[in-house]
Amino acid sequence: MTTAGLVDRYGRVATDLRVSLTDRCNLRCTYCMPVEGLPWLPNSAVLTDDEVIRLVRVAVERLGVDEVRFTGGEPLIRPGLAKIVGAVAELAPRPRISLTTNGIGLDKLARPLRDAGLDRVNVSLDTLDGERFERLTHRKRHPDVLAGLAAAQAAGLTPVKINSVLMRDINEDEAPALLRFALAEGYELRFIEQMPLDAQHAWDRARMITAAEILAALRERFTLLPDPAERGGAPAETWLVDGYTTPDGSPAKVGVIGSVTRPFCGDCDRTRLTADGQVRNCLFATEESDLRGALREGADDEEIARRWRAATLTKRAGHGIDDPKFLQPTRPMSAIGG
Ligand code: 5AD
Ligand code: SF4
Repeated sequence: MTTAGLVDRYGRVATDLRVSLTDRCNLRCTYCMPVEGLPWLPNSAVLTDDEVIRLVRVAVERLGVDEVRFTGGEPLIRPGLAKIVGAVAELAPRPRISLTTNGIGLDKLARPLRDAGLDRVNVSLDTLDGERFERLTHRKRHPDVLAGLAAAQAAGLTPVKINSVLMRDINEDEAPALLRFALAEGYELRFIEQMPLDAQHAWDRARMITAAEILAALRERFTLLPDPAERGGAPAETWLVDGYTTPDGSPAKVGVIGSVTRPFCGDCDRTRLTADGQVRNCLFATEESDLRGALREGADDEEIARRWRAATLTKRAGHGIDDPKFLQPTRPMSAIGG
Protein backbone atom coordinates (compact mmCIF):
# COMPACT_ATOMS: atom_id res chain seq x y z
CA MET A 1 0.00 0.00 0.00
CA THR A 2 1.36 3.43 -0.93
CA THR A 3 1.12 6.12 1.68
CA ALA A 4 2.11 9.12 -0.47
CA GLY A 5 0.29 12.16 0.88
CA LEU A 6 -1.75 14.93 -0.70
CA VAL A 7 1.01 16.98 -2.31
CA ASP A 8 0.26 19.75 -4.77
CA ARG A 9 2.33 21.29 -7.57
CA TYR A 10 3.64 23.98 -5.24
CA GLY A 11 4.90 21.49 -2.66
CA ARG A 12 2.14 22.11 -0.14
CA VAL A 13 0.97 19.00 1.72
CA ALA A 14 -2.66 18.72 2.83
CA THR A 15 -2.94 17.03 6.22
CA ASP A 16 -6.02 18.86 7.55
CA LEU A 17 -9.32 17.45 6.26
CA ARG A 18 -12.57 19.43 6.49
CA VAL A 19 -15.66 17.29 6.10
CA SER A 20 -19.06 18.89 5.52
CA LEU A 21 -21.74 16.62 6.98
CA THR A 22 -24.76 18.49 5.66
CA ASP A 23 -25.47 21.61 3.60
CA ARG A 24 -28.50 22.42 5.79
CA CYS A 25 -28.59 24.81 8.69
CA ASN A 26 -30.94 26.09 11.38
CA LEU A 27 -29.65 29.68 11.02
CA ARG A 28 -29.63 32.05 8.07
CA CYS A 29 -26.52 34.18 8.60
CA THR A 30 -26.71 36.98 6.07
CA TYR A 31 -23.13 36.41 4.87
CA CYS A 32 -23.97 32.80 4.15
CA MET A 33 -27.49 32.08 2.96
CA PRO A 34 -30.79 33.77 2.06
CA VAL A 35 -33.71 33.75 4.52
CA GLU A 36 -35.67 31.28 2.42
CA GLY A 37 -32.81 28.76 2.56
CA LEU A 38 -31.25 27.08 -0.45
CA PRO A 39 -32.11 24.17 -2.74
CA TRP A 40 -30.70 21.51 -0.40
CA LEU A 41 -28.91 18.42 -1.60
CA PRO A 42 -31.28 15.46 -1.89
CA ASN A 43 -30.68 12.78 0.76
CA SER A 44 -29.60 10.28 -1.88
CA ALA A 45 -26.74 12.61 -2.88
CA VAL A 46 -25.45 13.01 0.67
CA LEU A 47 -22.85 10.50 1.84
CA THR A 48 -24.13 7.97 4.35
CA ASP A 49 -22.42 7.74 7.74
CA ASP A 50 -20.54 4.65 6.58
CA GLU A 51 -19.42 6.38 3.38
CA VAL A 52 -18.12 9.38 5.37
CA ILE A 53 -16.26 7.06 7.73
CA ARG A 54 -14.73 5.13 4.83
CA LEU A 55 -13.46 8.27 3.09
CA VAL A 56 -12.01 9.67 6.31
CA ARG A 57 -10.34 6.31 6.94
CA VAL A 58 -8.71 6.36 3.50
CA ALA A 59 -7.51 9.94 4.15
CA VAL A 60 -6.01 8.99 7.52
CA GLU A 61 -4.60 5.58 6.63
CA ARG A 62 -3.27 6.30 3.13
CA LEU A 63 -3.02 10.05 2.65
CA GLY A 64 -1.36 11.36 5.79
CA VAL A 65 -4.35 13.31 7.14
CA ASP A 66 -3.83 13.89 10.87
CA GLU A 67 -6.55 16.43 11.60
CA VAL A 68 -10.26 16.06 10.82
CA ARG A 69 -12.75 18.90 11.26
CA PHE A 70 -16.48 18.35 10.78
CA THR A 71 -18.44 21.28 9.38
CA GLY A 72 -21.70 21.99 7.56
CA GLY A 73 -24.02 23.72 7.05
CA GLU A 74 -24.58 22.90 10.66
CA PRO A 75 -22.96 19.57 11.59
CA LEU A 76 -24.87 19.19 14.86
CA ILE A 77 -28.09 18.56 12.92
CA ARG A 78 -26.62 15.42 11.39
CA PRO A 79 -28.09 12.49 13.34
CA GLY A 80 -25.04 10.25 12.87
CA LEU A 81 -22.50 12.81 14.10
CA ALA A 82 -21.53 11.06 17.36
CA LYS A 83 -21.24 7.72 15.56
CA ILE A 84 -19.00 9.26 12.89
CA VAL A 85 -16.81 10.98 15.50
CA GLY A 86 -16.53 7.71 17.43
CA ALA A 87 -15.45 5.78 14.32
CA VAL A 88 -12.87 8.43 13.36
CA ALA A 89 -11.46 8.39 16.89
CA GLU A 90 -10.76 4.65 16.44
CA LEU A 91 -8.55 5.19 13.40
CA ALA A 92 -4.81 4.71 13.63
CA PRO A 93 -2.94 6.96 13.82
CA ARG A 94 -5.76 8.74 15.66
CA PRO A 95 -6.36 12.14 14.06
CA ARG A 96 -7.22 15.24 16.07
CA ILE A 97 -10.96 15.76 15.75
CA SER A 98 -12.76 19.08 15.87
CA LEU A 99 -16.07 20.64 14.91
CA THR A 100 -17.14 24.02 13.52
CA THR A 101 -20.67 24.73 14.67
CA ASN A 102 -23.14 27.53 15.30
CA GLY A 103 -23.53 26.13 18.82
CA ILE A 104 -27.25 25.38 18.67
CA GLY A 105 -27.82 22.05 20.40
CA LEU A 106 -24.31 21.93 21.79
CA ASP A 107 -25.66 22.37 25.31
CA LYS A 108 -26.93 18.79 25.06
CA LEU A 109 -24.39 17.33 22.63
CA ALA A 110 -21.09 18.61 24.04
CA ARG A 111 -20.73 15.82 26.59
CA PRO A 112 -21.72 12.87 24.35
CA LEU A 113 -19.50 14.19 21.56
CA ARG A 114 -16.59 14.56 23.97
CA ASP A 115 -17.19 10.98 25.11
CA ALA A 116 -17.22 9.84 21.47
CA GLY A 117 -13.76 11.34 20.94
CA LEU A 118 -14.27 14.95 19.85
CA ASP A 119 -11.30 17.09 20.94
CA ARG A 120 -12.32 20.71 20.26
CA VAL A 121 -15.02 23.01 18.90
CA ASN A 122 -15.14 26.33 17.10
CA VAL A 123 -18.45 28.13 17.68
CA SER A 124 -19.64 30.97 15.44
CA LEU A 125 -20.83 34.01 17.36
CA ASP A 126 -20.90 37.46 15.78
CA THR A 127 -22.71 39.49 18.41
CA LEU A 128 -23.46 39.66 22.13
CA ASP A 129 -26.82 41.30 21.50
CA GLY A 130 -29.92 39.11 21.05
CA GLU A 131 -31.68 41.53 18.70
CA ARG A 132 -28.65 41.94 16.51
CA PHE A 133 -28.29 38.17 16.48
CA GLU A 134 -31.80 37.90 15.11
CA ARG A 135 -31.07 40.51 12.45
CA LEU A 136 -27.95 38.66 11.47
CA THR A 137 -29.21 35.09 11.51
CA HIS A 138 -33.00 35.54 11.13
CA ARG A 139 -33.58 33.27 14.11
CA LYS A 140 -34.13 33.91 17.85
CA ARG A 141 -31.46 31.47 19.01
CA HIS A 142 -28.89 33.66 20.75
CA PRO A 143 -29.36 32.07 24.20
CA ASP A 144 -28.88 28.60 22.67
CA VAL A 145 -25.48 29.62 21.31
CA LEU A 146 -24.35 31.01 24.67
CA ALA A 147 -25.53 27.83 26.39
CA GLY A 148 -23.71 25.75 23.80
CA LEU A 149 -20.46 27.62 24.39
CA ALA A 150 -20.72 27.12 28.15
CA ALA A 151 -21.46 23.41 27.75
CA ALA A 152 -18.48 22.95 25.43
CA GLN A 153 -16.22 24.56 28.01
CA ALA A 154 -17.67 22.44 30.82
CA ALA A 155 -17.26 19.25 28.76
CA GLY A 156 -13.57 20.01 28.16
CA LEU A 157 -13.78 20.63 24.40
CA THR A 158 -11.02 23.13 24.91
CA PRO A 159 -9.72 25.54 23.96
CA VAL A 160 -13.24 26.58 22.91
CA LYS A 161 -12.75 28.96 20.00
CA ILE A 162 -15.22 31.58 18.82
CA ASN A 163 -15.36 32.67 15.17
CA SER A 164 -16.73 36.17 14.59
CA VAL A 165 -17.46 37.90 11.30
CA LEU A 166 -17.92 41.67 11.50
CA MET A 167 -20.18 43.48 9.07
CA ARG A 168 -20.40 47.18 8.40
CA ASP A 169 -23.36 48.95 10.05
CA ILE A 170 -24.45 45.71 11.75
CA ASN A 171 -21.89 44.59 14.32
CA GLU A 172 -18.74 46.45 13.27
CA ASP A 173 -18.52 48.18 16.66
CA GLU A 174 -18.43 44.90 18.63
CA ALA A 175 -14.81 43.80 18.34
CA PRO A 176 -13.72 45.00 21.81
CA ALA A 177 -16.92 43.77 23.51
CA LEU A 178 -16.59 40.33 21.92
CA LEU A 179 -13.00 40.14 23.10
CA ARG A 180 -13.93 41.24 26.62
CA PHE A 181 -16.59 38.49 26.71
CA ALA A 182 -14.20 35.82 25.39
CA LEU A 183 -11.50 36.78 27.90
CA ALA A 184 -13.96 36.70 30.79
CA GLU A 185 -15.34 33.28 29.82
CA GLY A 186 -12.02 31.72 28.80
CA TYR A 187 -12.82 31.32 25.09
CA GLU A 188 -10.30 32.01 22.33
CA LEU A 189 -11.71 34.58 19.92
CA ARG A 190 -10.84 34.86 16.24
CA PHE A 191 -12.24 37.36 13.78
CA ILE A 192 -12.69 36.21 10.18
CA GLU A 193 -12.76 38.69 7.30
CA GLN A 194 -15.98 38.27 5.38
CA MET A 195 -15.35 36.29 2.20
CA PRO A 196 -17.28 36.15 -1.09
CA LEU A 197 -18.96 32.84 -0.31
CA ASP A 198 -22.57 33.89 0.26
CA ALA A 199 -25.22 32.24 -1.89
CA GLN A 200 -26.73 35.65 -2.70
CA HIS A 201 -23.45 37.04 -4.13
CA ALA A 202 -23.90 40.23 -2.10
CA TRP A 203 -20.29 40.43 -0.90
CA ASP A 204 -18.70 43.80 -1.59
CA ARG A 205 -14.95 44.26 -1.21
CA ALA A 206 -15.38 47.96 -0.50
CA ARG A 207 -17.73 47.32 2.43
CA MET A 208 -15.78 44.50 4.01
CA ILE A 209 -14.32 45.10 7.48
CA THR A 210 -10.60 44.43 7.08
CA ALA A 211 -8.15 42.77 9.44
CA ALA A 212 -6.41 46.14 9.81
CA GLU A 213 -9.66 47.79 10.95
CA ILE A 214 -10.36 45.00 13.44
CA LEU A 215 -6.88 45.27 14.93
CA ALA A 216 -7.15 49.05 15.20
CA ALA A 217 -10.49 48.74 17.02
CA LEU A 218 -9.05 46.17 19.45
CA ARG A 219 -5.98 48.29 20.10
CA GLU A 220 -8.13 51.17 21.31
CA ARG A 221 -9.04 49.04 24.35
CA PHE A 222 -6.36 46.35 24.63
CA THR A 223 -2.61 46.04 24.27
CA LEU A 224 -1.80 43.35 21.72
CA LEU A 225 1.66 41.81 21.80
CA PRO A 226 3.22 39.62 19.09
CA ASP A 227 2.57 35.91 19.69
CA PRO A 228 5.91 34.04 19.75
CA ALA A 229 4.21 30.74 18.79
CA GLU A 230 4.80 29.30 15.30
CA ARG A 231 1.90 29.98 12.96
CA GLY A 232 2.45 26.95 10.71
CA GLY A 233 -0.51 26.39 8.39
CA ALA A 234 -2.92 28.18 10.75
CA PRO A 235 -5.03 30.82 9.02
CA ALA A 236 -5.28 32.99 12.14
CA GLU A 237 -2.57 35.49 12.95
CA THR A 238 -2.59 35.61 16.73
CA TRP A 239 -1.69 38.21 19.33
CA LEU A 240 -1.28 37.92 23.07
CA VAL A 241 -3.69 40.15 24.99
CA ASP A 242 -1.51 41.91 27.54
CA GLY A 243 -2.63 41.37 31.14
CA TYR A 244 -5.02 38.46 30.50
CA THR A 245 -4.65 34.71 30.94
CA THR A 246 -6.66 31.66 29.85
CA PRO A 247 -8.36 29.29 32.34
CA ASP A 248 -5.18 27.15 32.39
CA GLY A 249 -2.97 30.13 33.17
CA SER A 250 -1.28 30.67 29.80
CA PRO A 251 -1.35 34.10 28.10
CA ALA A 252 -4.74 34.86 26.48
CA LYS A 253 -4.77 35.23 22.70
CA VAL A 254 -6.90 36.82 20.02
CA GLY A 255 -6.73 35.86 16.34
CA VAL A 256 -7.53 37.56 13.06
CA ILE A 257 -8.08 35.54 9.91
CA GLY A 258 -7.39 37.96 7.08
CA SER A 259 -8.56 35.64 4.34
CA VAL A 260 -8.97 38.49 1.86
CA THR A 261 -6.42 41.14 2.77
CA ARG A 262 -3.75 38.86 4.26
CA PRO A 263 -4.13 35.59 2.37
CA PHE A 264 -2.30 32.54 3.70
CA CYS A 265 -2.70 30.31 0.64
CA GLY A 266 1.06 29.65 0.45
CA ASP A 267 0.90 27.74 3.73
CA CYS A 268 -2.44 26.02 3.13
CA ASP A 269 -2.62 22.45 4.45
CA ARG A 270 -6.34 21.85 3.83
CA THR A 271 -8.32 19.42 1.77
CA ARG A 272 -12.13 19.44 1.77
CA LEU A 273 -14.88 16.91 1.31
CA THR A 274 -18.41 18.14 0.63
CA ALA A 275 -21.51 16.46 2.07
CA ASP A 276 -22.12 14.86 -1.33
CA GLY A 277 -18.65 13.36 -1.50
CA GLN A 278 -16.79 15.82 -3.73
CA VAL A 279 -13.17 16.69 -2.99
CA ARG A 280 -12.45 20.41 -3.16
CA ASN A 281 -8.81 21.37 -2.91
CA CYS A 282 -9.72 24.97 -1.95
CA LEU A 283 -12.72 26.87 -0.56
CA PHE A 284 -12.58 28.88 -3.78
CA ALA A 285 -11.97 25.99 -6.15
CA THR A 286 -14.08 26.02 -9.30
CA GLU A 287 -13.67 22.30 -9.88
CA GLU A 288 -14.37 19.25 -7.74
CA SER A 289 -13.52 15.56 -7.92
CA ASP A 290 -16.25 13.02 -7.36
CA LEU A 291 -15.37 10.43 -4.73
CA ARG A 292 -18.97 9.44 -4.06
CA GLY A 293 -19.29 8.09 -7.59
CA ALA A 294 -16.09 6.09 -7.15
CA LEU A 295 -17.31 4.73 -3.81
CA ARG A 296 -20.69 3.72 -5.16
CA GLU A 297 -19.12 2.08 -8.22
CA GLY A 298 -17.12 -0.17 -5.89
CA ALA A 299 -13.67 1.46 -6.08
CA ASP A 300 -11.16 0.04 -3.59
CA ASP A 301 -9.34 2.19 -1.03
CA GLU A 302 -6.27 2.64 -3.21
CA GLU A 303 -8.35 3.86 -6.14
CA ILE A 304 -10.03 6.42 -3.88
CA ALA A 305 -6.66 7.53 -2.55
CA ARG A 306 -5.36 7.83 -6.11
CA ARG A 307 -8.27 10.07 -7.11
CA TRP A 308 -7.80 12.24 -4.03
CA ARG A 309 -4.08 12.69 -4.81
CA ALA A 310 -4.93 13.57 -8.41
CA ALA A 311 -7.49 16.14 -7.21
CA THR A 312 -4.80 17.77 -5.07
CA LEU A 313 -2.53 18.28 -8.09
CA THR A 314 -4.93 20.83 -9.57
CA LYS A 315 -4.87 23.02 -6.45
CA ARG A 316 -4.12 26.60 -7.45
CA ALA A 317 -1.45 28.76 -5.84
CA GLY A 318 -3.97 31.18 -4.36
CA HIS A 319 -7.62 32.21 -4.26
CA GLY A 320 -7.12 35.48 -6.18
CA ILE A 321 -10.04 37.28 -4.48
CA ASP A 322 -8.25 40.56 -5.05
CA ASP A 323 -7.85 39.81 -8.77
CA PRO A 324 -10.43 41.58 -10.99
CA LYS A 325 -10.95 38.28 -12.82
CA PHE A 326 -11.90 36.51 -9.57
CA LEU A 327 -14.88 34.20 -9.96
CA GLN A 328 -16.91 33.28 -6.88
CA PRO A 329 -17.36 29.51 -6.59
CA THR A 330 -20.81 28.28 -7.56
CA ARG A 331 -21.22 26.44 -4.26
CA PRO A 332 -21.85 28.68 -1.25
CA MET A 333 -19.96 28.22 2.03
CA SER A 334 -22.80 26.18 3.52
CA ALA A 335 -22.36 23.53 0.85
CA ILE A 336 -18.56 23.48 1.04
CA GLY A 337 -17.83 23.54 4.75
CA GLY A 338 -15.76 26.16 6.54
N1 5AD B 1 -17.05 34.93 5.21
C1 5AD B 1 -16.34 34.65 6.33
N2 5AD B 1 -16.68 33.70 7.21
C2 5AD B 1 -17.79 33.00 6.94
N3 5AD B 1 -18.37 32.02 7.61
C3 5AD B 1 -19.46 31.63 6.92
N4 5AD B 1 -19.60 32.34 5.80
C4 5AD B 1 -18.57 33.22 5.78
C5 5AD B 1 -18.16 34.25 4.90
N5 5AD B 1 -18.84 34.54 3.79
C6 5AD B 1 -17.84 31.54 8.89
C7 5AD B 1 -18.89 31.16 9.86
C8 5AD B 1 -18.23 30.05 10.62
C9 5AD B 1 -17.16 29.53 9.71
C10 5AD B 1 -17.44 28.18 9.20
O1 5AD B 1 -17.08 30.41 8.63
O2 5AD B 1 -19.22 32.22 10.70
O3 5AD B 1 -17.64 30.52 11.80
FE1 SF4 C 1 -25.58 28.27 9.20
FE2 SF4 C 1 -22.94 28.63 9.49
FE3 SF4 C 1 -24.20 29.51 7.28
FE4 SF4 C 1 -24.65 30.71 9.64
S1 SF4 C 1 -22.68 30.63 8.54
S2 SF4 C 1 -26.22 30.10 8.11
S3 SF4 C 1 -24.53 29.03 11.04
S4 SF4 C 1 -23.96 27.40 7.87
